[in-house]
Amino acid sequence: MKRARGFKEITPLDAPNPVREFQGSSQSKKPSLLQPKEKILDEKNVEMGGQLKTDEVFPPIAIPPLKTSHHPSVPCSPVESDEMVDLNPFPYLYKSTYDFKFDTIKEKVLDDIKRSKNIVEQTGIQTPEKEGAYTTVILVGAEVNGQRWTPPHTWTELSNFVDNWLPQKVKKLWNDWGLSPYAVPFISESWINEHSYGSFTEGHHHQNSQISLSCYLNVPEDSGRLMIKDPMEIYNHSRPLNFDHTLSGKSWRYIGVDTNDVIFFPGFLEHQTERSQSNDKRYIMSININYVDYGAFAAMNNNILKPLWHPEQFG
Ligand SMILES: [Fe+2]
Repeated sequence: MKRARGFKEITPLDAPNPVREFQGSSQSKKPSLLQPKEKILDEKNVEMGGQLKTDEVFPPIAIPPLKTSHHPSVPCSPVESDEMVDLNPFPYLYKSTYDFKFDTIKEKVLDDIKRSKNIVEQTGIQTPEKEGAYTTVILVGAEVNGQRWTPPHTWTELSNFVDNWLPQKVKKLWNDWGLSPYAVPFISESWINEHSYGSFTEGHHHQNSQISLSCYLNVPEDSGRLMIKDPMEIYNHSRPLNFDHTLSGKSWRYIGVDTNDVIFFPGFLEHQTERSQSNDKRYIMSININYVDYGAFAAMNNNILKPLWHPEQFG
């Protein structure tokens, strides 16, 4: 199995240790990457609660896996004649739908937008929301009427979405992207954006968010598409692009969205909104999903992992 250079996995004390199990006992010889026919695992060492099986161990680079039946095929629709289709075998952008019933939360949404507007007018604080757009992200961690602000993902009206619908979708992405089960996801932030005629959200990313969601609560016609910047753009600097490629905005793709659409994307992806051309207001709920490294958490709690400093000692 290939590991990133410098890879070191910490496993909770009471959980099976895939690294230790993979290598067998401390006396056993480590598998040699130079000997593809060598039996590198025995069955008793690979049946560890379904974490690592013989089928899933890949031989050295450039040799096909022993068995690939457990790997699903990339969806591939039939091609007509000499047509070409985009197979996209490593997708990072997903879409689903959920009936948010915007009317049931509209009052709360408008209350929070009003609070945010007041803060912007009083403080001049800058956000990516421009020319009449507003965001409640500035309320994250704030106090409202003496109480901690309640972000939209904690509203009871959205409990089915957060507690039942969302975990299933996140689990699919966790699997598709090969993320560790010891990286335990949680919602780190959520907020609402409002766009009125002529306004937009400028380019930005959601740093430190493994999965970000744009939940389209209310999308009037012509209120603007989602724009995604090519994450490979840095590599394009060494490609023979047309001279106007970047200047004419060709690093961006436009995704049409409708009410109740949910778009999932990795937080590193730069994105923005198109300028709204609608007299009706558009409302989006954004959600960030971060993770806790369960192995590191357990090891630190057991004094196995020694932090170099505690947060209060920094600086
Ligand atoms: Fe965003």
